[in-house]
This record gives sequence, structure tokens and C-alpha cells, in this order.
Amino acid sequence: MQAFIALYGFLDLVLRAYLLATQAIIMGGVAFLTLVLSPLDGKLDAEESPIARRCLRILFWSCCASVLGEIVAVVVLTAMLVGTLQVDLAVAASADAVVSHFIAMILSGALALYARLDVGAFFKWRAGAVALALLLACAHVGVTHAASRPVASALLVTTEIVHVLAAAIWIGGIPFLLVALGMTKSGEARRLIASKFSRNAMWSVGALIAAGLLMMTRHFSDLSALYETNYGMLVSTKIVLLFGLLCFAAANLSTTRKLWRASSIPIRRLLRFSEVEVGLGLVTLFCAAALASASLPTDGGAERTSLSEITARFAPRWPSFHSPAYAELSAAQAASSVAEPGTPSPPSAADIAWAEMNHHLAGVFVVLMGFFALLERHRPTAPAVRHWPLLFLMLGGILVIRADETAWPLGPIGFFESLRDPQIVQHKVIVVLIATFAIFEITTGAAAAFLLTHYGHTEGKDEVLVAISHTPIALLGVVSASARWLEIRLSDTPAGRIGGYVWPIAFILSGLLLLLYREE
Ligand code: HEM
Repeated sequence: MQAFIALYGFLDLVLRAYLLATQAIIMGGVAFLTLVLSPLDGKLDAEESPIARRCLRILFWSCCASVLGEIVAVVVLTAMLVGTLQVDLAVAASADAVVSHFIAMILSGALALYARLDVGAFFKWRAGAVALALLLACAHVGVTHAASRPVASALLVTTEIVHVLAAAIWIGGIPFLLVALGMTKSGEARRLIASKFSRNAMWSVGALIAAGLLMMTRHFSDLSALYETNYGMLVSTKIVLLFGLLCFAAANLSTTRKLWRASSIPIRRLLRFSEVEVGLGLVTLFCAAALASASLPTDGGAERTSLSEITARFAPRWPSFHSPAYAELSAAQAASSVAEPGTPSPPSAADIAWAEMNHHLAGVFVVLMGFFALLERHRPTAPAVRHWPLLFLMLGGILVIRADETAWPLGPIGFFESLRDPQIVQHKVIVVLIATFAIFEITTGAAAAFLLTHYGHTEGKDEVLVAISHTPIALLGVVSASARWLEIRLSDTPAGRIGGYVWPIAFILSGLLLLLYREE
């Protein structure tokens, strides 16, 4: 049970991100079917039914995925409450958050049944699907800060519901737009679908930003909390990701406007940019999920860092490649006492030098990879240049050995025992992602998302500073993943060629940040 409680924070984050993503697709799907396809009833000729059927199928499977996730959430949360509060099962199962998950499970199940209807019946009874989707957003907000306030404010709860719905209609609707545009051959149908969706998306973006800013006025006592607290760092990261999302959305809007004037224009760039929007949207949802486990700046529970501490931490200094001997580390010295995983002692100077060395080593590899990738654009046949991805394996190998000095292979704690520590689990996840960078774009994006939410679980000031150091590296990872995706998917177009330069440069920049990494 202790192992489970230690790991709960990380499990809750991944589960929450999974539920936010599946439920965004559910709400986005219902919105796409009722606000885009249904109003175009009879205007899309023969293509209408196959498109709607495919969208209903995606909706059905997203609902099933959500039901599964909610069942796991109910079980995990109930077990957590029984384990930590020593209450009996009935009391734990009646906790507000457990009930919210239970309701979301029922609603997702009901929507799955709705999605099994044939197209005609679904459009006829679509009001019911809309009502269920709205209730699903309400049930989700039941497990957020807005609902867990000592005195829940109707305005704050409603604002968060609007924020979650707006994010879902926009980001959750894009997969359905991709499917619909991918299945239409007629320029006329594409023109109608794209312009109807982009109008809904524009309203959603407006509502999302307004609601997000309104919630900020309630959850932040001052603007400096945006960079002095973990919660603030996560919201700032969302704002930066939103900026990226809006760049691609704006480019797609201009294509949609051209499509409106001439329905024969190619939509390949619109489709690929929409795919990048989905990726950026998923990373943002991952960030949003981490918000729930961070203390609100207004609650005063979270330690704050200061601008002077941040500038001191980022002050450029030559990277040191001096690594203390393993015997000097706290982990080695504590080995005889076999410290319990999950009870971190303050890092010693040797521990800090060891951690900085890990980041500096990783920095060398990442800069080299970016450099070789750039070189490969001009000398594609040179063998040394062409096999640069092998550097990932070397980096993965080094991190497996050095990333967690308390555990296997260097430390006294065994491999499986070490998986009780959420920090070690996340390191292992990131190392596996690094080793599989062969399928580069997706794993880079996933690793960046994990890096964005990797710190800040203990709310200590040091954690805020470490989170601040890692966030720009992770955001550059998101840029690399998006640019690489465009390089591959739009290789023969200007956007693809630009992508081919952007990602190696973003890689080199993140490598330089790793070389400047400091823990004191
Ligand atoms: C101007 C940019 C944004 C601001 C200021 C903002 C702010 C916030 C705030 C303050 C919360 C409340 C979290 C809590 O404490 O419970 C929140 C939640 C949320 N945001 Fe945003 N947000 C922004 C952009 C976005 C974007 C672009 C997305 C999605 C693509 C998004 C998705 C969400 C979701 C799904 C939640 C609910 C999280 C949960 O369930 O815990 N937000 N946002």
C-alpha cells in the first residue's frame, strides 16, 4: 500500500491527462457532429453519411476509453482514500471526487450508446448527446480546484466548465475535422466543413482565453506568481503552448478563407498543420492535468522562489564535466541504512554536481544530434552524419546508469523496488522515450510533455527552480517534435523545408540549455 500511495501522484497525473484527452475528443466529437455536420445535412451529397458514421465510430471508441479510465480512476482513488485515511470502502466511495468520476463513467457510457445509433437517429436525438456532453464537462470540473474550494463559487465553477468545453470543441474537434476532410473529395464539401469548423473554433478560442484569464484572477494573488510558483509555471507554459497553437490555427484560418474563395485549392498544409495542433493540444492538456495536483498560489501552501533566485540559477557559467565519485554521493553513504524510496534528503554538494553532470552530458549529446541533423540536410550520404540517431541510444544508456544514483544499477535499491518512487518511474519513462527516439516526432513530444510535468510534486522552492530550468528545454522539445512532423509530412513544401531546419536548431538550443543547467 505504501508503494501505491508513493506512486499515486504520478498515476493520478497520467490518468487525469488520459481522461482530459479522451473526454476532449468526446465533447469535441459531439460538437463536430451537431455544430458542423448536422447543419450541413443534405449539402455534402453522398459523402455525408460515411463521414458521420466514421465520426460516430470514433466517438464510440473514445467513450469506451473514457469509461475504462473512469473505472480505473474510481478504483485507484477509493483505494488511495482507504489506504491513507483508514476509512471504510463505503465512506471512501462516497467522497465527492469518487462520485464525480462515477458520474463521468455513467455519462461516457450513455454517450457510447448514443454513438451506436445510426446517423439519422443520432441527428434526430442530438440534443440528448449535447446535454450528456455538457454534463460530462460538469462532472470533470467536480474534481478540479474550482469545485474543491472551501466555498465553491458558482462563477468560478461555470468559468472552468466553459474553459474545459471550449478546449474540447477546438482541440477535441480537430481529429473529426481531419477525418471529414480526409474523406471528402469535393472541394465544395471541404469548403463547407472547414469554414463551419473554423467558425466554431474561433468562438471556442475566445471563450477559452477569456475563461482562462478569469480563473487566473481568482487563483493568482499577483502576476509574479506566474513564474515564482509551480502552479504559475504550468499556467505560463499553457499560455506559451496556446501561442503556438494560435500560430497554426491562424495559418489554417487563412487556408480556410482561400478555400472559401476557391474550393479547388489543395488542403494538404491545412491537414498537416491541424495534426500539429492536435499534438500541441495534447501536450497542453497534459499540462492542464498537472495543474490539479499543484497548490494554488492564493492558498499560500506552495513555496515561492524569487526573480533574483531565478536569474542567479540561469546566470550562464561554463558547464562542468567533473563528476564526483559515486562513494561521495548521499545515496552511497546512506546505502548501509538502505533509505526508504520516496523520502528525499536535501541534496549534498556531490549530489548536485552529479545531477548537473548528467544534464551537461545530455546537453553534449543533444547539441551533437542537432548539429549532425543540420549537417545531414547538406551531406545526406556521409555515414557519420546519417547515423546520428544512434546517439540517442548512447544518451539513453548513460541516463539509465546515472539518472537515479539511489537505485539500480549503481545504487542499493533494486530495479523493481525503485519503481515505487514516482521520480524514478518518470526518469525510466523518459529514458525509454529517449531510447525509442527512432520514431522521433511522437516520442519527442511525449518526452517533452513528461518533462513539463516532471517536477513540482513536492511544492518545495527548489522544485520550482528545477521546474523553471526544465520548462524551456521541454518547450523546445515540443517545437522539435512539431517541426520534425512537418518536415516528414510536408517534405516537398516550404513549410516542410523550414521544419527541417527548425527542429535541429531547437535541438541544439535545448542542448545548450542542458549545458547551462544548474541545481544551485
Ligand atoms: C490563456 C491561456 C490559458 C490560461 C490562462 C488557462 C488557465 C487555466 C486555469 C487557471 C485552470 C484551472 C485549473 C485548476 O486549478 O483547476 C485551467 C484548467 C484547464 N485548462 Fe486552461 N488555460 C489556458 C489555456 C488552455 C488551453 C490552450 C487548453 C487546451 C488546449 C486548456 C485546457 C484546460 C483544461 C482541460 C483545464 C482543466 C484541468 C483540470 O481538469 O484540472 N487551457 N486553465
